[in-house]
Amino acid sequence: HNVEHHRAHLASSFYVSPFERAALLSIDGFGDFISTMWGVGEGNSIEVLGQVEYPHSTGILYTATTQFLGFPHYGDEGKVMGLAPYGEPRFMEEFRDMIRTEEGGRFRLNLDYFRHHAEGVEMSWDEGSPTIGRIFSDEYAKRFGPPREKGAPVTTREQDIAASLQKRLEEVGFHILNHLHDRTGLTDLGLSGGVAYNSVMNGKILLNTPFRRVYVQPAAGDSGTALGVCYEIYNGLLKQPRSFFMEGAYTGPEFSDDEIRAELDQSGLEYETHSDREITRRAARDIADGAVLGWFQGRMEFGPRALGNRSIVVDPRRADMKDILNERIKKREPFRPFAPSILEERVGDYFEQEHPAPTMLMVYQIKPDRRREIPAVTHVDGSGRLQTVSQEVNPRYYQLISDFNELTGVPIVLNTSFNENEPVVCTPRHAIDCFLKTRMDVLYLGNHAVRRKSS
Ligand SMILES: [Fe+2]
Repeated sequence: HNVEHHRAHLASSFYVSPFERAALLSIDGFGDFISTMWGVGEGNSIEVLGQVEYPHSTGILYTATTQFLGFPHYGDEGKVMGLAPYGEPRFMEEFRDMIRTEEGGRFRLNLDYFRHHAEGVEMSWDEGSPTIGRIFSDEYAKRFGPPREKGAPVTTREQDIAASLQKRLEEVGFHILNHLHDRTGLTDLGLSGGVAYNSVMNGKILLNTPFRRVYVQPAAGDSGTALGVCYEIYNGLLKQPRSFFMEGAYTGPEFSDDEIRAELDQSGLEYETHSDREITRRAARDIADGAVLGWFQGRMEFGPRALGNRSIVVDPRRADMKDILNERIKKREPFRPFAPSILEERVGDYFEQEHPAPTMLMVYQIKPDRRREIPAVTHVDGSGRLQTVSQEVNPRYYQLISDFNELTGVPIVLNTSFNENEPVVCTPRHAIDCFLKTRMDVLYLGNHAVRRKSS
């Protein structure tokens, strides 16, 4: 079988969604000569209703601007999204000229600003991660001045360009989505494609369109096309019944207690072992005491977000935790926010919106009177990229946050991926290596805990 790129994206956000019928949007850089595709899914089939062809692409616009702002690496778009709230969108005229909306949910790039349509997008591989050649043209410099050199200070110009880009992306996104709603009359939406990682845009969909429920595929980018191809064949072509709702993203490898013990024994580290009930209580106590915790449990997450099975967890009440994490482990740019995991039933107490966000792909505003309570997960504009945690989907992580809530009265922990600057850890061995290399305080592996000896 041969499943086209965007059909795979659409399938990935429909067949594993909770919806019997839904509007679908794949919003992307490009794939198979198309950047954006929308349609409607019903039962065991998907009908495509419209598309935008390459070189016109929201993903290209975002990547080009990210490069111009001096962030050259694959996936750096998230940094620009994190930078945007520091700026004022004073370049809207320029960005509305760079990407123009058209009838029927369509849009066009002003190609004067870009090189990809004439010269293609060079992709090369640099020690395992892809590098993309320069996409923006000299027109950027005419409008904004010279590009920022990598590593140069980030000034208000960069912040304002990021803010304008983000705002324009949202305008174009809602333009497509409002058309999709008009065309289908549906209020349930399945969302995929690399641009669907823009959790700031996603978090505003319910406020700017008639959609009422949104399912964002946890691996919305190209890794998720593998999932889409499987279900397009299984449900779409072979008409097998739809039976799997991918509510979390816990479909990766898991390791037995024997395997974990074997690795711990081999490492020569001393460890304690506790009962199921006791392990989350101890961990919650450590978090409340200010420890930086490695938290390794069950199946690894599919997609880019650590969702409480391969996570580093700390206390969100401590304003200094951002700096501690950056200094000891993450070494990220100081403007990038850290994310909160919250008990699902408490979302409305802390956030302005309550729609679930189980895969950390929605950013909502934190209620103003709550911001001071959880400074380590409150971004400069008062927003938070939350993960809502339910007992059914991740019982152990839910229990950890519940125990933390019991101790502190706060039903939230700070969750960041379990890695230094390499890929997220997968195996117990990776977790132990990361623990030893960084200045984490405690490592929880299943029901075992390793404490760093105070030196
Ligand atoms: Fe894609």
